[in-house]
Parts: sequence; C-alpha cells; structure tokens
Amino acid sequence: MTTLASAPRPAYRLDCHVAPGNRATSIAGDVRSGLGRTPRSLSPKYFYDERGCDLFEQITRLPEYYQTRTELAILRDVAPGLIARHAPSELIELGSGSSTKTSALLDPMADEGFLRRYVPFDIAPEALLAAAARVAGDYPGLEIHAVAGDFGIHLDRIPTPTEDRRLVAFLGGTIGNFRPAERHAFLREVRGLLSPGDLVLIGTDLVGDVRRTEAAYNDSRGITAAFNRNVLRVVNGELGGNFVPANFEHVARFEAEPAWIEMRLRAMSRQYVRLEALEMDIEIAAGEEILTEISAKFTRDQVAQMYAESGFALSEWHTDSDRRFAVSVATAVD
Ligand code: SAH
Ligand code: TRP
Repeated sequence: MTTLASAPRPAYRLDCHVAPGNRATSIAGDVRSGLGRTPRSLSPKYFYDERGCDLFEQITRLPEYYQTRTELAILRDVAPGLIARHAPSELIELGSGSSTKTSALLDPMADEGFLRRYVPFDIAPEALLAAAARVAGDYPGLEIHAVAGDFGIHLDRIPTPTEDRRLVAFLGGTIGNFRPAERHAFLREVRGLLSPGDLVLIGTDLVGDVRRTEAAYNDSRGITAAFNRNVLRVVNGELGGNFVPANFEHVARFEAEPAWIEMRLRAMSRQYVRLEALEMDIEIAAGEEILTEISAKFTRDQVAQMYAESGFALSEWHTDSDRRFAVSVATAVD
C-alpha cells in the first residue's frame, strides 16, 4: 500500500499563468494596437505556440544560425569554472524553451554538489512541461519549479529565494528581442529577485559581419520564414482572423543605426484581413510590412552599460574565437 509518507515526491511542479497554447490574456489588446499603428507591428511573444516552438528548435539547428551552437560551446567551456567560483545552488532560467542548453550549467552545479533547485520560466507551457519532465529524469531528486508566464507580467511569480546563491540565466540572445527601454525594465525586475552577490548570465549576439548576421535570419531552407509567418496563424487561431500567411514574404534586414535585425512580413499583394474577435477590418497595401521582431546585436561596452544601469556589475565576458557571440556574467550590486 502506498501511504502518504512513502508516496514518491512529484518530480516537478508547473505553475501556469498563461492559457495553454501559450497566449497571455493580452493578445487582443496587443494585436489591436500593433496592427492599428503605422508602421504596423505584432508582438514577438506570439511566435511561440507549439508549432512556433518546434520551428524555433529547427532554427537552432540550421547551418546559418550560428548563435545556438556558439553559445552552447562557450557555456560548456566556462560554466565549470564559473560554478566552482560562485557556488550557486539555484538556477533560474528565463525563456528556457526546451532547456536544451541547461545541462551545461546544471552538470557542474550537480558535480560540485551545489545543485538544489531549477526554475525554468517561459511563455510556452507545452515546451516547459516537456523540458521539466526531461530534466527531472536527468537529475533525480532535483527540485524543479517551472513557471509558465510572460516576462512582462509574471516575473514576480518566480518562487521566493532560499538562503542560497541564485544564478539567473537568460540565453539565446533573447535579451536582444527587447527594445532598450524594455531591456532595462526587465533587468531591473530581475535584479529585484536577487540579493547582492547573486549572478546573472546572459547570452548576447555581437555586432559583426552584416552578411553573416543577416544570413542567420534568412536561411536557405525557409525555416525562419515559416517561423515568422507562424505568428499570423497564431493570430488567426486566437482572434478569428483570416490572414493568409502564404501571401506574406519574410524580410530580415540589419539596421546599422540601432544595430539590430528587423524581422518583417511584407504583403505581396493587397490584403483585406478581418479579425472577428476584435471586430477589426484591416487593409494592408501591397508591399506594406508588418514588424514582427527585432534582434539586437551588442558590443561589450553596451552590455557593461546595460548591467550598470540596472543594478549589476559585469564580471565576466566570454566569446568564441570569432567574437560572434558572448556569454557575460554580472553580479547583483547594492
Ligand atoms: N533559451 C532557448 C530559447 C530561446 S527562444 C535557447 O537559447 O535556445 C526564446 C524563448 O523565450 C522561447 O522559448 C519563448 O517561448 C520565450 N519567450 C518569448 N517571449 C516571452 C515572454 N514574453 N515571456 C516569457 N517567455 C518568452
Ligand atoms: N532570440 C532569437 C534571436 O534573436 C530569436 C530568433 C531567432 C528569431 N530567429 C528568429 C525571432 C527569427 C524571429 C524570427 O536570434
């Protein structure tokens, strides 16, 4: 007989603050204001339904998309030393997705005997659930507390700290998908989750060869294009829309002045779109573009300044030998 005392502890806990299928409650307002504005835009957080997450996984394996494998190689190289020096016992991973890179951090934490808790946080509950289950299998006894939420709304749902040192990881260059003001607000909020001496580790794509950068967002197999167009399918599904994704062309260009890639969807002919749930009719001119995502490219000075403005001090800067991608570590300061 299984008594309560001998019942196996659940391998993970998942708190869900977003509707299954991913969308936060704000989709109606976000889409109405974004599509109503000139130039039109859509929020990138709606890329990541199940199909979007799957397409993103495919992007990470593309030959042109150097970011994922470069970041993982840097992490594998530097994590053991970092972990040994700072002895974190809790890993909070923001935008964890499929948690594919996580073992590069969890392994040395486990090897050193520090590892107590893993807190993955992502807007995509299905990806989070699959990741939590896999990590639970890989690290028996590890406390896993997954939080499905939106960076802009739910960071305060991250469980309260234990006495121990926290490490927050934000990988994949996702910080580059925020505008500068959002980046700042986000990091200040992350700082609020931490005590002086706690750490953040952030992956940033670097300013470099423009052709190589643009190629990473214009792959020859069209996976990035499919990922970009998927946001229209998500909008259709959530808001009763009739966008025809195939009538939009994927555009990704590097803009030198802000130093970011802009991802857009360009109407190949005039489009009449109805969003039933919003009772909204939109006419999109031939050639008109909808901005769907930015992906900023950084320099070391910018990253150092970004930390300094949000209550952190840059303490480590690691790049690959071609200086295409950086993993930086910063310490929370008083
Ligand atoms: N960390 C992974 C995934 C990066 S893709 C990697 O490095 O490969 C960006 C991740 O952020 C996706 O998993 C997406 O679901 C999540 N995400 C995007 N917008 C979000 C938001 N507003 N709130 C929380 N998570 C978000
Ligand atoms: N964080 C990733 C990046 O900026 C997200 C991403 C990769 C992305 N490819 C994309 C977003 C294509 C939109 C479209 O590199």
